[in-house]
Amino acid sequence: MRRASSFVVAAACIAVAAVASLSQAQSAPAPTPAAGASLDYNFFKTRVQPVFTTKRAGHTRCVVCHTQNNAPFHLVPLSPGATAWTEEQSHQNFQLIQKVAIPGSMESPIVHHPLAQEAGGDPHHGGGQQFESQNDPAWQTLRAFVMGQKA
Ligand code: HEC
Repeated sequence: MRRASSFVVAAACIAVAAVASLSQAQSAPAPTPAAGASLDYNFFKTRVQPVFTTKRAGHTRCVVCHTQNNAPFHLVPLSPGATAWTEEQSHQNFQLIQKVAIPGSMESPIVHHPLAQEAGGDPHHGGGQQFESQNDPAWQTLRAFVMGQKA
């Protein structure tokens, strides 16, 4: 009898621990938008999208991976032969980017994920440390977009 009940307690503990770690994994801290900050479509279309199609030495272009993989950052594929997105595709991308671009928040993954760890970015990105420093103009464009700069 005693043995049975302590088994039940142990099993319950394991279940609780499993649920706790699961909910922790799912509730990765969602950055909160800063009051009054908003993302500008025209800045996104004319300044940010070119960052995704530009080749950086030693790296693959963002568009190559992020139209295909399942990362939270997703872009619509370019039409065959096209080097830029159409107006309609740009609008779709602008919706999609909002998963990783939180208005007014430097916690936005689009800002810290592709940035070198030494420069304040994340330790690992499947696409490499595309920006070695915060002085990189392309990285500054991403930051300006997140911080609400208008075209
Ligand atoms: C070689 C393929 C590849 C390239 C090129 C690439 N990425 Fe990624 N990226 C990944 C993979 C794989 C993940 C998911 C795993 C991870 O978090 O690294 C990812 C994840 C991300 C995320 C999501 C982070 C999160 O978890 O919310 C962002 C943002 C991101 N990449 C931005 C970029 C930007 C910006 C560029 C171009 C400057 C770029 N990536 C280029 C492969 C790539």
